[in-house]
Amino acid sequence: MTQKVEAVDVVIMAAGKGTRMKSKLPKVLHLLAGRPLLQHVMDTACGLGVRSMVLVTGHGAAEVETACGRQVSESTHFDLKFVRQEPQLGTGHAVQQAVPVLPEDGVTLILNGDVPLIEADTLRALLQECAGDKLALLTVDMPDPTGYGRIVRAGDVVQTIVEHKDATPAQREIREIYTGVMALPTARLKQWLARLRNDNSQAEFYLTDIVKFAVADGAPVVACKTADRVQVDGVNSPVQLAELERAYQLRLAKRFMEQGVRLADPARFDVRGELLCAQDVSIDVNCIFEGQVSLGEDVRIGANCVIANASIEAGAVIHPFTHIDGERLGVSVGEGALIGPFARLRPGARLGAEVHIGNFVEVKNSTLARGAKANHLAYLGDAIVGERVNFGAGSITANYDGANKHRTVIEADVHVGSNCVLVAPLTLGAGGTVGGGSTLTKDTPAGALSVARGKQVSIANWSRPQKSKS
Ligand code: UD1
Ligand code: CA
Repeated sequence: MTQKVEAVDVVIMAAGKGTRMKSKLPKVLHLLAGRPLLQHVMDTACGLGVRSMVLVTGHGAAEVETACGRQVSESTHFDLKFVRQEPQLGTGHAVQQAVPVLPEDGVTLILNGDVPLIEADTLRALLQECAGDKLALLTVDMPDPTGYGRIVRAGDVVQTIVEHKDATPAQREIREIYTGVMALPTARLKQWLARLRNDNSQAEFYLTDIVKFAVADGAPVVACKTADRVQVDGVNSPVQLAELERAYQLRLAKRFMEQGVRLADPARFDVRGELLCAQDVSIDVNCIFEGQVSLGEDVRIGANCVIANASIEAGAVIHPFTHIDGERLGVSVGEGALIGPFARLRPGARLGAEVHIGNFVEVKNSTLARGAKANHLAYLGDAIVGERVNFGAGSITANYDGANKHRTVIEADVHVGSNCVLVAPLTLGAGGTVGGGSTLTKDTPAGALSVARGKQVSIANWSRPQKSKS
């Protein structure tokens, strides 16, 4: 157990413009693993059990606030406050905007909205170093520290942080840099923020200047050095965003492999949401999982599948190039089912055990009972399909009359031939057979053969037209 620390209030800085993203979208709303950068930071902070969160917005403030408010109200009941920083006069100025809404007691944890991969354990360790009364700085050694604030020590003791642009050549040799994350008693933070000046090379109010005030006041300053750069890397450009995305996915891939999941190539595996895998799952290359996906025991996923919001039961096989998207309704694939290659399962597809869905078959909002098969070139929409039904190649449910959607019920053991159009609403009685090429508009009785197409005619000794001689 970690020791009980003071109440923690988080300040997340997210007012910067993010010019180098070259995008209309505010930087902190760019997606990493399917979630906005800022959402990663907020989710991690939530996981610490903090008391409240203050988001400092500026560029694209309204858009950022709307996006975050929505996410938070969906997931948790959290005390989230927004403050605006306009214009942006530096990181110290950003935190100054939060002062009026920060309770005097407790500890403030300062995070950056564009540093998405910081982990809860790292923050817990920093809060423990802070222990309610110290200024605790998260630092890291950078092979190339250009641009960052340097941690200046006398012996071991931290003296100040000097920004790159203000640093002497000797200070620029220092590799230990400030990551942008700190924790400190809020009462002290407020005193020190009030003393900030902008008499530096960038005419900005530097948050990092509070370190020298702490030292001058004899307040303890501790530096907590992490060895894990990925956690403290910021996103400033599309290249950095892609690098962090790969780093994140690779970590996730390794965690899955440690659990026993067989990934054909951990570098070609993407989870943009939450994936749950039972024992002996194997996943081939280039698969993407989005939203909530669960894979049961022994499930095999072929190459190049995109699977979103779906539950795949034990022993099912998803062949290559299959697209499954349950959106809000979800998709379920029963035990031992065979799906694809090139299948498409849409919201509300509920497939029972041993169902077979083959190439170029689309299923939407339909329930297929155990053992039903649609193996080639078919569409099932708004249908209830009984056990062991065989749905022929090229057959479709015509579920939409241009205004409304209608149901098709295909009872157990029906055999629908190829190229049939089932004009809904329609019920095909159990055990019936539908002749190929039929367009059915009326219900069919159980056990009957139903054919609805022009009768075949053969004209004997038919002579084909001849090419005319000119
Ligand atoms: C800051 C630190 C530097 C550290 C670096 C780590 C200061 C003065 N310097 O550098 O020591 O090594 O972070 O990345 O704090 N922001 C605002 N309002 C502003 C300015 C910035 O909200 O007026 C936000 C940005 O959106 C960003 C964060 O603060 O999320 C850091 O800003 P950035 O300009 O990237 O950092 P630096 O000031 O260069
Ligand atoms: Ca800056």
